[in-house]
Amino acid sequence: MLDDVEAVVLVGGKGTRLRPLTLSAPKPMLPTAGVPFLAHLLSRIRAAGVRRVVLGTSYLAETFEEHFGDGGKLGLDLTYVVETEPLGTGGGIANVAEYLTTDDVLIFNGDVLCGTDLGAVVETHRRTAADVTLHLVRVQDPRAYGCVPTDPDGRVTAFLEKTEDPPTDQINAGCYVFKRSVIDSIPRGRVVSVERETFPELLESGARVSGHVDNAYWRDMGTPGDLVHGSADLVRGVAPSAALPGPTGESIVMEGATVAPDAFVFGGSTIGRGVTIGAGAKIESSMIFDGAVIAPGAIVEESVVGAGARIEEAAHIRDTVIGDRAVVGAHCELKGGARVWPDVVLPPHGVRFSADV
Ligand code: GDD
Ligand code: MG
Repeated sequence: MLDDVEAVVLVGGKGTRLRPLTLSAPKPMLPTAGVPFLAHLLSRIRAAGVRRVVLGTSYLAETFEEHFGDGGKLGLDLTYVVETEPLGTGGGIANVAEYLTTDDVLIFNGDVLCGTDLGAVVETHRRTAADVTLHLVRVQDPRAYGCVPTDPDGRVTAFLEKTEDPPTDQINAGCYVFKRSVIDSIPRGRVVSVERETFPELLESGARVSGHVDNAYWRDMGTPGDLVHGSADLVRGVAPSAALPGPTGESIVMEGATVAPDAFVFGGSTIGRGVTIGAGAKIESSMIFDGAVIAPGAIVEESVVGAGARIEEAAHIRDTVIGDRAVVGAHCELKGGARVWPDVVLPPHGVRFSADV
């Protein structure tokens, strides 16, 4: 058990790729399988035996403490540290240094859904006497991530953030173990990227940087497609979490929601509090936030419907994000990454991708 390790979670990003959802909530607070995404990550950290967690916040900083308080409900001792101006991933780590007391510190990107064995990552760090250990996974397309080649001894040989020509499919999974002395060596009071500055400099200086590779479930929740599929994986039990508000299955329906008996809700969908799903509506692999209304005969597939939004009769949305309180008029058809901003009202038949007969 990791009772001699503290954790830092970086949650200061603006979540721009998830706009308009992140206009009203920071990415780690978006409801995911019925609870803020961060609750799933914190539950994994707690299950590994860690008790003290420091959150490095910036964008919409107060929302975290409002929800999680002192962490007691999760069995955690939570500390919140605010960056008035975002300091970047490295600056965010340096900024919480004075709140840390252990020799080894686990550091997490706050938007990663992952099933890795955290004890094993720390074990690799200690066995290899590393200065920093990076959790690494293999992905189909490494270009959107930090590409991290290793040698046969598991030693990291390079760190190439978002390169067009990645030499390997092995990437930074956004979970690290840092020696305390490395945290103290990050420059203070200015923007620092751990990916573009700290890791390359450590490698340059000959520090021991280890890679811990495994094939655990892994997904960065930074885009609408990943958010929707990650949430569906949580609901169906494909992705592990100890924070689900109900049993795993085809759907999670939160209290106060009304689902018509002949509506189809499946594929790992989440139906938020106070939502109404009308007769014959079809909800597949989607996230319906609190208070939204899906009218009879509407179809919602692999989409996010914001709080209080309405999808009117026989409208059909697929691979779409609907902002809070927006209205998608009857018989509208949206697809292919469409994003509707909060409070926008699309009239009946207002937007379609095909003829309406
Ligand atoms: N405190 C703080 N301050 N946190 C920040 C800041 C900041 O200025 N900027 C970003 N963060 C947090 C975000 O909230 C997020 O949880 C995490 O740092 C990573 O930022 P993203 O914006 O999600 O980065 P990314 O997904 O493009 O890339 C990162 O994650 C990949 C894995 O998911 C990099 O670390 C890649 O190397 C990595 O492969
Ligand atoms: Mg990310």
